[in-house]
Amino acid sequence: MASDHKKTLAFVLSLLLGIGLARAGNFYQDVDITWGSGRGKVLSNGQLLTLSLDSGSGSGFQSKSQYLYGRFDMQIKLVPGDSAGTVTTFYLSSQGSQHDEIDFEFLGNASGDPYTVHTNVYSQGKGGREQQFRMWFDPTKDFHTYSVLWNPSHIVFYVDGTPIREFRNREAIGVAFPKNQPMRVYASIWDAEDWATQGGRVKTDWTKAPFTASYQGLAASGCTSPDAAACARSNGKWMSQELDSAAQDQLRSCRRTT
Ligand SMILES: *[C@@H]1O[C@H](CO)[C@@H](O)[C@H](O)[C@H]1NC(C)=O
Repeated sequence: MASDHKKTLAFVLSLLLGIGLARAGNFYQDVDITWGSGRGKVLSNGQLLTLSLDSGSGSGFQSKSQYLYGRFDMQIKLVPGDSAGTVTTFYLSSQGSQHDEIDFEFLGNASGDPYTVHTNVYSQGKGGREQQFRMWFDPTKDFHTYSVLWNPSHIVFYVDGTPIREFRNREAIGVAFPKNQPMRVYASIWDAEDWATQGGRVKTDWTKAPFTASYQGLAASGCTSPDAAACARSNGKWMSQELDSAAQDQLRSCRRTT
């Protein structure tokens, strides 16, 4: 009982302060399936969400909340077997033509060939900052955690807690940085056979459809109010999180393919 009261109090306080608490997510409460006419499904009492792609359509969902800065974790199990042509995503985005966006895209491959992790950052509508990586495990066998840290000094992409990319705030030298447009969390699966796999040479094999990716454990801990200063005061942990020297070493040693 007492701990229930504490939880309730913490929750009310978090609402008042405009901070999304990190907690075990429930997809029923946290997201809306926005497209795919039934190809996106919430299962296991809200603990699991599957997205499918077939020749008719892909599917996707988005978070109900919007965040200005935060730490976002998602566990994903990618399409097994022949996933050539498919792209599975987990990203953050604001709205409009001058939007900001932070992308994780997983480019499928023919059976046995490795997935590519494609990352990108848009600020004020401008992208073109792709970097691609190879994973050091088979991402289709189990769930793995893909995370984005976004605070005023940098954006960091993590795979299972290992930083693979840091995008530093370089506003001082005139590079726009996402800082004042709140973003939602999105995920989707779609067909991109024109470019996704080996530059478009390997097409989607629709006889293998539906292609299904699974999501669980969405933990979003961010500012849900536009008052970033209040967030910074009340949740210093991720607002000021930097990469220590061990993390810098991990960043340098990760396998980049572009
Ligand atoms: C697919 O596998 C091939 C062969 O190993 C590799 O060159 C390519 O980068 C992989 N990924 C994609 C998305 O094509």
